[in-house]
Amino acid sequence: MTQRDTWWKTAVVYQIYPRSFADANGDGLGDLAGITSRAAYLQALGVDAVWLSPFYPSALADGGYDVDDYRDVDPRIGSLADFDAMTATLHAAGLKVIVDIVPNHSSNRHRWFQEALAAGPGSAARERYIFRDGKGPHGDEPPTDWRAAFGGSTWTRVPDGQWYFHLFAPEQPDWNWDHPDVHQEFLDTIRFWSDRGVDGFRIDVAHALAKDLTEPLPTAAELAHIPAGPGHPFYDRDEVDAIYREWRQVFDQYDPPRCAVGEAWVDDPQRRGRYARPDLLGQAFNFDLLRANFAAAEFHDSVTQNLAVARQSGSSSTWVLSNHDVVRHASRYGLPLAPRGDGAFPPPTLRRDTAWLLTGGTNPPEDTALGLRRAKAATQFILGLPGSAYVYQGEELGLREVAALDAADRQDPTFFRSEGTDVGRDGCRVPLPWTDHGPGLGFGEATPHLPQPEWFKDYAVTREEADPAAPLAFYRQALHLRRDLLHSVTDEDFTWLDAPAGVLAYARGAWQVWTNFGETPADLPDGQILLASGPVGKTLPGATTVLLSAA
Ligand code: NOJ
Repeated sequence: MTQRDTWWKTAVVYQIYPRSFADANGDGLGDLAGITSRAAYLQALGVDAVWLSPFYPSALADGGYDVDDYRDVDPRIGSLADFDAMTATLHAAGLKVIVDIVPNHSSNRHRWFQEALAAGPGSAARERYIFRDGKGPHGDEPPTDWRAAFGGSTWTRVPDGQWYFHLFAPEQPDWNWDHPDVHQEFLDTIRFWSDRGVDGFRIDVAHALAKDLTEPLPTAAELAHIPAGPGHPFYDRDEVDAIYREWRQVFDQYDPPRCAVGEAWVDDPQRRGRYARPDLLGQAFNFDLLRANFAAAEFHDSVTQNLAVARQSGSSSTWVLSNHDVVRHASRYGLPLAPRGDGAFPPPTLRRDTAWLLTGGTNPPEDTALGLRRAKAATQFILGLPGSAYVYQGEELGLREVAALDAADRQDPTFFRSEGTDVGRDGCRVPLPWTDHGPGLGFGEATPHLPQPEWFKDYAVTREEADPAAPLAFYRQALHLRRDLLHSVTDEDFTWLDAPAGVLAYARGAWQVWTNFGETPADLPDGQILLASGPVGKTLPGATTVLLSAA
């Protein structure tokens, strides 16, 4: 295997949420032509690849993760020709393209779900999904009392009386992965996009495809005590391996082989490592830092554990601080420390039902300056680690969560299905500010589909490009230095260094990364400071990272 085949093992991947990135046709919704128009920005940033959240035809019941057709583009945001043009432009700019595959569920508008509804109970068409008769004398009670991820039941009744299963919203019926047609649909999909030149895939809810829903089924109370794994009806069953082994054969038919990263919210790192094996997906997201406070012990444990798992699975780790599902890290770190996560989902620092969000960002108050200092320090810390790193659109601007959004503007099904007790994920999905004026702050001509707050203009790309002290300049330098670093070290080069309490330090060859997670300034070793996330003198101030050349 050459670097050409394994680029993804050390890549920095920039996540684009297409409908909120750049709106070229001025309808308020970001589009593929918008992404194409920003290729130079992405190239200058210094990332290696972009990952696009779903851009497929969708009624947007779940931000596009309700897919009507896996092999087309939502006409509101482009066409297959626009996709090809975008891929060609990104490739020409030296950027790889990763697309999102959503294989746990389709949308309720997918042709096969519509066919299943029309065909009726007992039909072959219903076998592609998970339909059951209801309980109770009239079958009007759902087969189980399980709760779906966004709230409400996991079962929805159709007019003829049967119920279908959905782990997420009712508009997202789960596929039956015991059905050969479902296997074929996704093999065709992977080939379709690979043939169009995509370099890799991000696999949504990768751990839930294989299910065993044979009776008797546990109650919701019993289910809560069944660990994910072989004994769980749908999370992390062993049979999921066979699905990815089949996909791997397709990935490996391409030159270079297509890469894949699984979104598997599996707490046990050993189990999670399975998804990353070379004969399966090759890489799995490590979300541990999404659950961690800005605290030395939590970061230390996460790094040690995940590097060990990566070694065992023959893969490389991934490092993620923000994505389209969680509160942006510049805001998380500006809030009081949460009790340390116990591994339960959702973890405290990630919760969107905290008082802070429910009060529109007023209680407790967010310390925005501290949040940004910590966010930059944490980013620089992860960018030096072995493995690959993910950057979520806008974090390079230091963007914060938009906590205050009117109920009428919200889109996330979590908000509606929890009846507002969880405000949902819209606050990290507000369209990017490209300039500091105009109706969409340069996002597009029209009012954006999620309103930008007044303070967004302070984070505008044009303003930051003119300010060498802005987060954007820092990200660019950090990403370019990372490329230099990778020329001189391998993933094996990593050693923890002795450091005072509250400080973490590691060496990669002749380079050292020092992060002060506490408040008390710490001594620094001799060496040349190549980049610092904030002002540094002879000592390392709190909430600051430096990259040193010790040679
Ligand atoms: C995980 C995705 O990241 C999230 O946005 C989506 O709502 C669920 N999977 C369901 O597809």
